[in-house]
Amino acid sequence: MGEGLFISLEGIDGSGKTSLIKYLQKRFHTYPLITIREPGGTAISEKIREILLNVDNDLITVRTEAILYAAARSQVVEQLIGPSLQQGKLVLADRYLDSTIAYQGYGRGLDLQFLHTLNQLCTGGLRPHATILLDIEPQLGEKRRQHEKADRLEKEGGEFQARVREGYLQLAHDEPERFHVVNGGRAFVEVAEDAVTRLMPLLLKRGWWQIEN
Ligand code: TYD
Repeated sequence: MGEGLFISLEGIDGSGKTSLIKYLQKRFHTYPLITIREPGGTAISEKIREILLNVDNDLITVRTEAILYAAARSQVVEQLIGPSLQQGKLVLADRYLDSTIAYQGYGRGLDLQFLHTLNQLCTGGLRPHATILLDIEPQLGEKRRQHEKADRLEKEGGEFQARVREGYLQLAHDEPERFHVVNGGRAFVEVAEDAVTRLMPLLLKRGWWQIEN
């Protein structure tokens, strides 16, 4: 890996990741920054996204689903994330490999070891330096999303989201150095400032804080 910094944002549906990414994008606009969303981020990954989230595709098996997420990730790692890190950029990812463990593993019940191996294969071992987990109650996520049209995963309902949340908390427990668990149930400004405070030490290490000031 080059001199870049790789940060992923994770959380159940409605946890506020997308708003946070937009906030961080503005806040860190003086840094050499790119943002990506998963599944997606490249033309090919966006095509795979369309298959994955289309509500008409209810025949996709759980294993196929996992492999398609992995394929989309493989493409974005090789085409975008890896080269950006080599160029010394700050990469902000709206979801990355922990989503597969939380959703396809804890949510769908696929074998966790299989998914860890799949993640390793599709990323070549590229892991984020830090991960912000926006933790919220599933009911709050549901409430926030009630005016949006649900995609295929979002249609799974509250119990599914609760299992995904438990999965995330287990991952954070297993890797406390990488994960920052941020309470996403508060007012947005508080959540955003909390996330910034946790990222600052990493940015400082690279001398990027001075650029912003
Ligand atoms: P998206 O609309 O981007 O949701 P969000 O804004 O909440 O991130 O849709 C992504 C969906 O795909 C989301 O429900 C989580 C799911 N997902 C997985 O199940 N596995 C994965 O590996 C990834 C990256 C996403």
